[in-house]
Amino acid sequence: MAKQGSDGGWRAELVGDLEGDVLEIGVGTGENLRFYRGATRLFAVEPDAGRADEARQAARSAAIPVTIEVASAERLPYEDQRFDHVVSSMVFCSVDQPGDALREIERVLRPNGVLHMMEHVLPGNPLLAVLFRAITPVWRRLAWNCHLDRPTVETLREHGWEVEVHKRWLVFVRISARQGR
Ligand SMILES: C[S@@+](CC[C@H](N)C(=O)[O-])C[C@H]1O[C@@H](n2cnc3c(N)ncnc32)[C@H](O)[C@@H]1O
Repeated sequence: MAKQGSDGGWRAELVGDLEGDVLEIGVGTGENLRFYRGATRLFAVEPDAGRADEARQAARSAAIPVTIEVASAERLPYEDQRFDHVVSSMVFCSVDQPGDALREIERVLRPNGVLHMMEHVLPGNPLLAVLFRAITPVWRRLAWNCHLDRPTVETLREHGWEVEVHKRWLVFVRISARQGR
């Protein structure tokens, strides 16, 4: 996994080469925005209004046009088949209903559209998995609903996505996924 450096590291790798119309879910304060280079236009959603405002500030120095809405991944304010790509970085740990979010992402992606993710997931090591499951109820209260025990790659597959794992580093995984139904 590339480290985060002045060139953006994994963030630049995740979004820099995407082309066409892109949606980012859970954009937060807009940490990814300056790394979009090739997209035609970026739409982004963030449920926290304060963070969405910070992301709008960050969007001023983006290289492409950016529009930010206050909304959740489980209920996206866009028409069907609107986007070529959807991006999620460190978001699926905290969405309340991952299955609903995946159905919404499927709905707004065009046929052959791609979901790009950088997420932290439940460790494969069984002992660590037990530990991560045990501390999640406390951790999520301290850390904005962040779950340390989300098996996001398996959840994608259960919902019919074909997943390509590009990199794994400790509990972090960078993947791309296409609907296989
Ligand atoms: C750890 S931050 C990551 C922010 C940003 N994606 C990044 O890479 O810096 C997680 C973000 O997910 C957002 N979030 C939480 N639940 C969400 C949901 N249901 N739909 C979309 N975003 C959500 C949070 O408000 C927060 O901004």
